[in-house]
Amino acid sequence: MGKLAITGGEPLRKTPFTQWPMSTKEEAAALEDVLTSSKWGGQPFPGKHAELFAKKFAEVHTAKYAQCVSTGTVAIQAALKAINIRPGDEVIVPAYTWEGTVGPVLLLNAVPVFVDVDPETYCLDAKLIEAAITPKTKAILPVHLGMRFADMDEILRIAAKHNLKVIEDCAHAHGGMWKGKGAGSMGDLGAFSFQSSKLITSGEGGAVITNNLEYMELVQSYINAGRASLTDQYHHRIIGFNYRLGEFQAAVLGPQLDRLPKQAALREQNMKHLETRLQNPPGIGLLKPEPRITRLAPYGYVFKYFSSQVKDIPRAAFVAALQLEGIPCDGLFYEPVYKSSLFPLESADFPALTWGRDKALDLRSMYSCPESDRAAYQEAVWLPHQHFLGGTADVDTIADGILKVLSNVEELRGLDHKAIRNQRLGRADRES
Ligand SMILES: Cc1ncc(COP(=O)(O)O)c(C=O)c1O
Repeated sequence: MGKLAITGGEPLRKTPFTQWPMSTKEEAAALEDVLTSSKWGGQPFPGKHAELFAKKFAEVHTAKYAQCVSTGTVAIQAALKAINIRPGDEVIVPAYTWEGTVGPVLLLNAVPVFVDVDPETYCLDAKLIEAAITPKTKAILPVHLGMRFADMDEILRIAAKHNLKVIEDCAHAHGGMWKGKGAGSMGDLGAFSFQSSKLITSGEGGAVITNNLEYMELVQSYINAGRASLTDQYHHRIIGFNYRLGEFQAAVLGPQLDRLPKQAALREQNMKHLETRLQNPPGIGLLKPEPRITRLAPYGYVFKYFSSQVKDIPRAAFVAALQLEGIPCDGLFYEPVYKSSLFPLESADFPALTWGRDKALDLRSMYSCPESDRAAYQEAVWLPHQHFLGGTADVDTIADGILKVLSNVEELRGLDHKAIRNQRLGRADRES
């Protein structure tokens, strides 16, 4: 029997961390209000709760307009439609993100062009963008991933130089600020998700923000089955779908937006405390501080695990050991998207992959993104944001757990960590 919980020792933590999502009497009152209002749908368009939320959501992100939509993937798709992404256009995306960033590009029969991430942030590496630009490139779609922003200064500079549009995927960045500007407000449009793990959630949901009225009208028309937008100054009609958000979902977003600043401050304070506890233990690296982030919006706390500094014990074993110490966390959170099981694609379903070529582009085999590989398969460890909504004692158990696993790492050698973890937690992780 060893010291680590995975080898039979006592787990460091036996009580759960803060539950997510949270609900309070404010959500209950808002839901009751919808229930008794007989206005449940997103039509008439938008409902009272959706309208009020959208107004505040735009303000919080220093944007002029916001529109609630049914999911974050729809938000990206609507934003791509607003900038007139057409079949065959190329859109630059980071390789290390969730598949949901890229699916909307493909569904419009446009072509995603994968670019590697910056090892300091795990976000799209702006230094590599220009090499990926071709005459077909129309847009850059950076993701503010985890707890960092893509380098918006560089991305906006490159976009202006090459006459490209920018859509910010802000699924992880609710309330975040870059040099005083809200996430999603710096590019042409910003797309947010309110899926249940996100910093604000309605179970499912999303929003698009922009400073451009014409784009907002296009988004509104697209997500409302092609009807006229609310202002209809540009008279756009666009073949669309019903991607509206219902009032029950909009109602629970309002109180969460009100709580966001306090929660953001608490997360930031707790994350700083974690960092003071994790000063240079062998095996662990912290992401580089980024002073241009003026309000942190951490979807997760992300740190680096260096197996070479801890006797080559793989990340999967470290993560399994930490999980069994009672600290939920993830290693293989995302794969480089082009390596995911989405690919290879059936070229008949995505005709633009064949246009102008003898053979369809094989998105699975044409890329090599070593930093995305390193983050996905070896290095990145993700701690959920809600672990940081408790007190300092919660953060101390996280730090103690990490340090405990590191100082007993030899116990993990040759261990069937996967079988033990799966059996004890009653579930399988993606990572072996
Ligand atoms: C980076 C990223 N982009 C896009 C999305 C899509 O959001 P949704 O799941 O609401 O469609 C998500 C959400 O899971 C995400 O994490």
